[in-house]
Amino acid sequence: MGTSYNWAILGAGHIARKFAADLKLLPNARLYAVGSRSSDRANEFAGEFGIEKACGSYGELAADPKVDIVYIASRHTGHYRDTMLCLEQGKHVLCEKPAAMNGRQLEKMVMLARSKKLFFMEALWTRFLPSFRKVKELVDSGAIGEMRIIEADFCLNVPHNPEHRIWNPDAGGGSLLDIGIYPLFAAMTLGSPVSVITANAKLDDNGIDTFCSMQCAHEKGERSLLYSTITTGGRNELLLHGSNGQLLLNSWWHTPTSIDLLRADCATEHLTFNIPGNGYQYEAAEVMRCLIEGKTESPQWSTGHSKRLMELLDSVRQQTGIRYPEEVEVV
Ligand SMILES: NC(=O)c1ccc[n+]([C@@H]2O[C@H](COP(=O)([O-])OP(=O)(O)OC[C@H]3O[C@@H](n4cnc5c(N)ncnc54)[C@H](OP(=O)(O)O)[C@@H]3O)[C@@H](O)[C@H]2O)c1
Repeated sequence: MGTSYNWAILGAGHIARKFAADLKLLPNARLYAVGSRSSDRANEFAGEFGIEKACGSYGELAADPKVDIVYIASRHTGHYRDTMLCLEQGKHVLCEKPAAMNGRQLEKMVMLARSKKLFFMEALWTRFLPSFRKVKELVDSGAIGEMRIIEADFCLNVPHNPEHRIWNPDAGGGSLLDIGIYPLFAAMTLGSPVSVITANAKLDDNGIDTFCSMQCAHEKGERSLLYSTITTGGRNELLLHGSNGQLLLNSWWHTPTSIDLLRADCATEHLTFNIPGNGYQYEAAEVMRCLIEGKTESPQWSTGHSKRLMELLDSVRQQTGIRYPEEVEVV
């Protein structure tokens, strides 16, 4: 079977459950521990997934010598603190998106991972899905010619509820950091480097961005038109317009199961993908692949990529006035 790794999940919430289920699809991954701020929640989660060790604090989890890799599944506002804690304890880290609340926090996380020669990656799972990889391959091989326009949205209708993290500034709420990050990621990954970004947002009384639109100018001249919202559903498609055709990633494009390639001669190819589980196993497999190869970063989604994405998010926030309480922005 080769090298296997003991995984731990920090934060026993919504995404943690999906990830835990997917880890079971990987023969060399053992979900050994879960950590929660509450022993009850840790025990419940451990029971649900047959996990050996349930830790009633994040500190206990990070200090466990049997843990090799920690998946940080806490809210955005915990990513910096929780990643630093685990890196300090010598653990490799896969941290949910956004990797941090701002570029300053991310810089510190990357520096610590480097100084300790530990693996660190933002969990931008879309990058590792076979369907998205295929899209990247098609674009890079010139299947639609030169890129001209990238169009993407990510729209969710989340009923207003101050308890929900997406509506809560203390939890880093709003559309940009939660879902607007995906269209930006696509523009960065499928287009040439972004040279200018201009943005506009609609803020509610608590400063939460309920809508955010972004326009990117890219180095090779193409443009990206991107938006996100938490007040209505949407197309949730990604459309790439090239000089020689178009590529459509059908809804939900951030986890595509079908894509259409429309060539300039009107020939159409419809590709479908069968993705087992929720699709989080691919990013986890990448972490282990890199570790086996002695790498501390993935070339597919490196800390350089995360830092550039965070710079763009910071710039959008600056232009639109999306602000969070000082305590969650500190380094
Ligand atoms: N990749 C994806 O597809 C995807 C999808 C959804 C979310 N996410 C990302 O995953 C992260 C978690 O999202 P989620 O939807 O799973 O969030 P969630 O269920 O609301 O919270 C996740 C966990 O954060 C921990 N937490 C730490 N401090 C907390 C606090 N002050 N209040 C409440 N909970 C706190 C809790 O764990 P304990 O109580 O057990 O300590 C909670 O269960 C977010 O950063 C989000 O961007 C990614």
